[in-house]
Amino acid sequence: MAEGSFVSASRRSFLTVSAAASAALALRIVTEPMLARAARHLVHEGVMIDANENPLGPCAAARQAVIDIAPQGGRYSDWLSVDLVNQLAQLEGLKPEYVALYPGSTEPLHHGVAAFTSPHRSYVTADPGYEAGMFAAQSVKARLVKVPLTKDYAHDVRALLAAAPDAGLFYVCTPNNPTGTLTSHSDIEYLVANKPKDSVVMVDEAYIHFSDAPSVLDLVKADKDILVLRTFSKIYGMAGLRCGVAFGRPDLIEKVADFGGWNFMPITALVAASASLKDTQVVPERKRINSEVRSSVFAWLDRNGYSYIPSQSNCFMLDTKRPGKEAIDAMAAQHVHVGRIWPVWPTCVRITVGSADEMEQFQTALKKVMTGAVTASVPGSKISAARSEPKLRTGELPYRA
Ligand SMILES: Cc1ncc(COP(=O)(O)O)c(C=O)c1O
Repeated sequence: MAEGSFVSASRRSFLTVSAAASAALALRIVTEPMLARAARHLVHEGVMIDANENPLGPCAAARQAVIDIAPQGGRYSDWLSVDLVNQLAQLEGLKPEYVALYPGSTEPLHHGVAAFTSPHRSYVTADPGYEAGMFAAQSVKARLVKVPLTKDYAHDVRALLAAAPDAGLFYVCTPNNPTGTLTSHSDIEYLVANKPKDSVVMVDEAYIHFSDAPSVLDLVKADKDILVLRTFSKIYGMAGLRCGVAFGRPDLIEKVADFGGWNFMPITALVAASASLKDTQVVPERKRINSEVRSSVFAWLDRNGYSYIPSQSNCFMLDTKRPGKEAIDAMAAQHVHVGRIWPVWPTCVRITVGSADEMEQFQTALKKVMTGAVTASVPGSKISAARSEPKLRTGELPYRA
């Protein structure tokens, strides 16, 4: 069994952990379900298309692997982490020390921001963009620089560079959450080549398998200042099982690890991820299903004259032509829970592409909202107190709701 980064990290002396890192252990992490639930609290019935989850769940092989490993749940079984690191390394053509496992990609995202930004090194991101890193930047008191997407809804890499000569970390999500739009490989290369010295580019490929876009893992292989994040929460349908990966040069991986991530992985997540990777049909099959459902929803939106941004992912932005909160509440009153609003586009809401059946229900409910047949949340409804958007104050989020 070759030695992976998991092993080398766990052998490091605790004495080498910096004071900054120990202080950072107190930081709160903000996750997609927290952001989604900030709008609908703990309602968990009806059509849930607000958190970019995969209605298919884990593939059959992953489910079986979880069942088979359950009797061994009394053991830490740390070699399973090493095995998965090696499997991923081999699959992507990287050395094992370039691969680090986490229970989801939220942790390396948050800890990466903590590692590379500070009150003197800003956090630079697209607007609208995935908010988790913004909360992390706020935790370490880094300046938050938000740059509008281009007219094609890509990250505007030249504007990102111009906006922050003091950048510590550039966050590029492609396909982007919430728009599902791509930023090209050449633009990311340009960003990496022209960024300020000592800054890092973090590319979040959480949704890459839904699209035809090439990965930027070749830039990791070329030892550039880049971290690539992947998760098993999206196309692999393992959001509740929790498995994510950070790819990067070992010195970058180590800096992120200083902020956390030394704990054991749940063995259920490890075996489910491993089984999912072994079934080479999972990605193409699920990509096809998502794309077919998405195309059918877009065709329906087109027929009805509704505005949306074409997406290459499992989510898209819909322009409701009214304050987004009104549309969210009116949909929720019909038990269809759609995603949140980004302040830069106040009339748009994010829609997750669910199953064909769920999207039928979405269409029926949306038609009633757009034609004015349902205008607001029904009195007494559990979601009538839904908030329009989470604030950048973590204390306001429903951690323990
Ligand atoms: C862009 C992006 N990155 C990272 C994550 C984190 O996912 P997880 O922690 O479930 O791996 C999400 C979750 O929705 C996301 O949308």
